[in-house]
Amino acid sequence: MIYDRSGMHFPDHKKYILENRLARRVEDGGFENYEKYINYLKHDAGREKEFTYLFNIITTNETFFFRDTSQLQAFESVALPDTVHKLKTKGSKKLRIWSAACSTGEEPYTLSMIVADRLSMPDYKDWDIEIHGSDISDGVLSSARRGEYNDYSVRNVSPQHLTKYFSKNGDGKYAIKPEVKKVVRLSNINLFDDSALRMYKGMDIIFCRNVLIYFDDASKKKVISSLYNSLVSGGYLFIGHSESLFNISRAFKLVNVNNVLIYQK
Ligand SMILES: C[S@@+](CC[C@H](N)C(=O)[O-])C[C@H]1O[C@@H](n2cnc3c(N)ncnc32)[C@H](O)[C@@H]1O
Repeated sequence: MIYDRSGMHFPDHKKYILENRLARRVEDGGFENYEKYINYLKHDAGREKEFTYLFNIITTNETFFFRDTSQLQAFESVALPDTVHKLKTKGSKKLRIWSAACSTGEEPYTLSMIVADRLSMPDYKDWDIEIHGSDISDGVLSSARRGEYNDYSVRNVSPQHLTKYFSKNGDGKYAIKPEVKKVVRLSNINLFDDSALRMYKGMDIIFCRNVLIYFDDASKKKVISSLYNSLVSGGYLFIGHSESLFNISRAFKLVNVNNVLIYQK
């Protein structure tokens, strides 16, 4: 059921991960045992809500600001300027970027900061910028909406960026400044849900990093093909640096930026 709904694949040797994560939910939800829990997920009127809990529990949400700087440099030095140039040539100032498994928000907010750096004032305010952040887990999306982070999340942020784009709260947390936050739109999107993805069209750049590792090849093919359809022609796709589209898709052109591979439609 988890696989059919989300594409997440737990092979036999990783079943213990599922068991560790679900045992508490089975107990707290008063389901007595896994069989009762499965029946509930199959037949009960409350099953949609329960799946929301389930995905909150079983997903791995590790992320941090400015994760994988070499990829972000490729974004800043090639994908973003090329996109901006192409849009300007078309007479458009509407830029659409999507962080398609954004966890607690560090990735879309990082992209928002880089875009603000790159399209600096006064030009920046003439642009209509949308940075979409989406995830299957409501739990992480609520944290992303709060936009407050601890030292660990900001460990890779330069002192300049920390001062420019964060303010320190009374409780020691780093809060994202409103100008970075306001271009980021957060929503619950399951990458395995074709109909939801069909609504996401015309993206200039998509980041889908460190989520393909939880899918098997069949799920990867399905998700990558949907993301391909969501991109504009010439648009860029970033996947995690340890992930690859080898045997998954031949639809993209590979662009090598200082040994960072990015995919172009
Ligand atoms: C390890 S985090 C990656 C966060 C960020 N992209 C990064 O690289 O730092 C993986 C995220 O993928 C999300 N995820 C897993 N399966 C998903 C699906 N089918 N649709 C959307 N998001 C999914 C998880 O909830 C989790 O927040």
